[in-house]
Amino acid sequence: MYSRKHNKGRGRKRKDDFTWWQHRIEILKGHRDSVPSVEEIYDAASKRHPKIDNVIQAMKPWAGIKLALLSYYIGVYSTAIKSLVKLEDSKICYIDTFAGSGLVLTSKVGNKKVVLYGSPSLGMIVPKAEGKSFRMMDKFIFIEENWEKSLILKTVSSLIAEKIGISEESIQVINKDMNLIDYKSLMRKHKCDHALVFVDPYCCEPKWSVISQILDLPTDVLINFMISEVRRQWGSSKSKENAALDEYFGSREWRSAKNERDLIDLYERNISSKGRIVYKIKVHGQGLFYYYIMLVTRRTSGGNPWLEPIEKRLKPRIEKMSGNVFKRLISIFEGDIATLDKYF
Ligand SMILES: C[S@@+](CC[C@H](N)C(=O)[O-])C[C@H]1O[C@@H](n2cnc3c(N)ncnc32)[C@H](O)[C@@H]1O
Repeated sequence: MYSRKHNKGRGRKRKDDFTWWQHRIEILKGHRDSVPSVEEIYDAASKRHPKIDNVIQAMKPWAGIKLALLSYYIGVYSTAIKSLVKLEDSKICYIDTFAGSGLVLTSKVGNKKVVLYGSPSLGMIVPKAEGKSFRMMDKFIFIEENWEKSLILKTVSSLIAEKIGISEESIQVINKDMNLIDYKSLMRKHKCDHALVFVDPYCCEPKWSVISQILDLPTDVLINFMISEVRRQWGSSKSKENAALDEYFGSREWRSAKNERDLIDLYERNISSKGRIVYKIKVHGQGLFYYYIMLVTRRTSGGNPWLEPIEKRLKPRIEKMSGNVFKRLISIFEGDIATLDKYF
């Protein structure tokens, strides 16, 4: 049995966790004074694209955990950038390499599907939604291979831009395979001094040669390492050729992996070999499904003080959250469940 004192502490902790997640979901839905709500943008985009629901990213509700993580890091980055880039007039960019359409639609939560801002939209709205001490990015570069998604993304990003006062010229939507882009030239063309890059594939689409190029540039990078998909590919090709895995890992070393731990370690070693530091955060889906977000940055002379909240607050909160609890959180936010006390 807990003492009263202990109980009080637990109560505060529960509240803290809930408040933190509530804030994150408010951001994913644009339910903040200074930004448009996602429903408003979705309605406006639906008028121009009547079949929007068939095109935008369909996801399980718990994919929102990844978006919550990303939105938190965009906030951290947009304040820490002052120590990453010294010049007052330097330009910072948000590059989303697997951008999607800017909106995501969950499978049913309660009796309805829920629309959330997708990763490119978060790059635009988070600093604005968080407040004055957060610096807006100067350029937004969104890469999406699927033509229909890229068209919706153009609409969504220009609707958001209009609402929050970003010029259309600061946004570029590129309808292309992200592996075919020269990132050095891209950053030079947009005069980017530093960039936050998000890499969110389904599986093994990004070639290591491309990630390696991105890591050579002045960037912070968030990479979704889809371990369940990578493991599936590895499991079915141990004794066969698999060019996709060769390109994903940048070598044939994946063949010597004995288990998924070895696959994760190999990818992490690749990143570390570029002189980068990697923080791995485990994101749970439903049941045993999980993946890692690898947060990659560069060691700074000041000792990267902004990484402390990542280690102390973000990582434990994300790793503790299960897919089912997140789904319930979304339904609470949508007004479907009256109380959440039993979940925290
Ligand atoms: C997991 S989804 C990304 C979701 C998005 N990041 C979000 O949070 O809203 C992957 C996206 O990448 C696109 N895609 C797949 N392969 C690609 C490639 N080689 N280059 C660019 N985009 C690609 C898909 O069409 C899909 O929209």
